[in-house]
Amino acid sequence: MNDDGSGYRGRRPTAMSRRGFLHLTAGAVAVAGLPITPASAALRAYSLAPAPARVKLLGRPNDPETDVWAYSGSVPGPVVRARRGERLRIALGNGLDQETTLHCHGIRLPNAMDGVPELTQAPVAKGGRFTYEFDLPDAGTYWYHPHIYTTEQVGRGLAGALIVEEEAPPKVDREFVWMLDDWRVGEDGAIAGEFDHPHDLSHGGRIGNLVTLNGTEVESLSVKAGERLRLRLINAANARVFGLRFDGVETTVVALDGHPVTPHAPADGRVVIGPGQRADLIVDIAADPGTRLSVVDDYYERFTYTFVTFEVEPGAPMRGSPLDAPKALAANPLPEPDRSAEAQEILIEGGAMGGLTEAVYKGEKMGLRQLWRAHRKVWSLNGIASSGFMEEPMFRLTRGRSYRWRIKNDTVWDHPMHLHGHVFRVLARNGAPVPFAPWSDTVMLHADDVVDIAFVADNPGKWLFHCHVLEHHRGGMGAVMEVA
Ligand code: C2O
Ligand code: CU
Repeated sequence: MNDDGSGYRGRRPTAMSRRGFLHLTAGAVAVAGLPITPASAALRAYSLAPAPARVKLLGRPNDPETDVWAYSGSVPGPVVRARRGERLRIALGNGLDQETTLHCHGIRLPNAMDGVPELTQAPVAKGGRFTYEFDLPDAGTYWYHPHIYTTEQVGRGLAGALIVEEEAPPKVDREFVWMLDDWRVGEDGAIAGEFDHPHDLSHGGRIGNLVTLNGTEVESLSVKAGERLRLRLINAANARVFGLRFDGVETTVVALDGHPVTPHAPADGRVVIGPGQRADLIVDIAADPGTRLSVVDDYYERFTYTFVTFEVEPGAPMRGSPLDAPKALAANPLPEPDRSAEAQEILIEGGAMGGLTEAVYKGEKMGLRQLWRAHRKVWSLNGIASSGFMEEPMFRLTRGRSYRWRIKNDTVWDHPMHLHGHVFRVLARNGAPVPFAPWSDTVMLHADDVVDIAFVADNPGKWLFHCHVLEHHRGGMGAVMEVA
């Protein structure tokens, strides 16, 4: 067995530039704002039809189109918008050639609406329909995606934003949803096959060679001097982590994973957002007319690139000094975990260059070699490699009780760990308190990190806890916890 246990010695994802295979053009493409649905009743009804489509991922006029899988013909899918306290209905009609489901990531909803195949519903067959309907208890930036064959379904483009507006949103001049994604494509615009490639399963996941903003290559965004923007960032990539530096503009983080946080400047000047995570930013364009401000992604040190450039319009500034309006958002009604929280531990092991030697798979203990060869599993949580969705719960939690989880990443890889149906506070990282103890549904664990989270297990049912690097989940990094 070689270093990663996969026997794979072929191509590694190398091209981490904005666009690995083509030089950048000088021409600027403006970001189109995503459509906003007008407000009306307390029930918001949407339909989403996942199906094959052709879209323009590559940004230059003569670039070829790409065959994707899309919700209702667009990548990302239509923005689903509602207001806190409203009820949302999404009628899903499956136009794919295979089963699918819809998971509304981060929403605290009833278990039967969670979209996890077998665990919460039967998969929606080709040509089949399923209607999801639930209340929206919290405002914030969320997203939807399938929860079956996710490496391929999400990897081919199935994802969309789900925005729950506050009753009293902060005053801004313009708001943008920024779906960040990356793709593995050739110069012909075709998406590379080989989903679940052994190398991706056992290393950092399927990291692509083309980064897109709202489904296309975007180079610049025209803004006005003095303008205040709200940016709703969503990382819909299978595996890529983004680390965006907004140099030259005043950037304030106001929400993480949808939930308000004390407004603060990003730590080390960089907004780090792993797969599945969201960040709401308020950005003041405190720059002179006619200037250009680059948003640089330097998460992967050796592959720094310009994610997008703000082109500050020439002419008179919109205002001389930043807008004098509060940035803080009203809190969501989340249950506060209490001090008597029961402590539990979750140990993450495996992957290339890891120390995992054996794990339990479907109740049977086996060596890593057999686990890998026979089942393509290479990760474990508390010594168990997940076989799918219908598993014995790793934890049985008492409804209404508080829990404190210490999650240990004993691997050399990043793992954005996502809990369904609940929102937790991120309390500590490597023994140090995390500033503002933000509410989250997906917490990033870098290599060797130990992270403490706490939550109230108040939502009955069987819920997934898994890595949102989709290839890691596929490779065994998931578990079920039951609240009863
Ligand atoms: Cu965004 Cu279990 O998923
Ligand atoms: Cu992972």
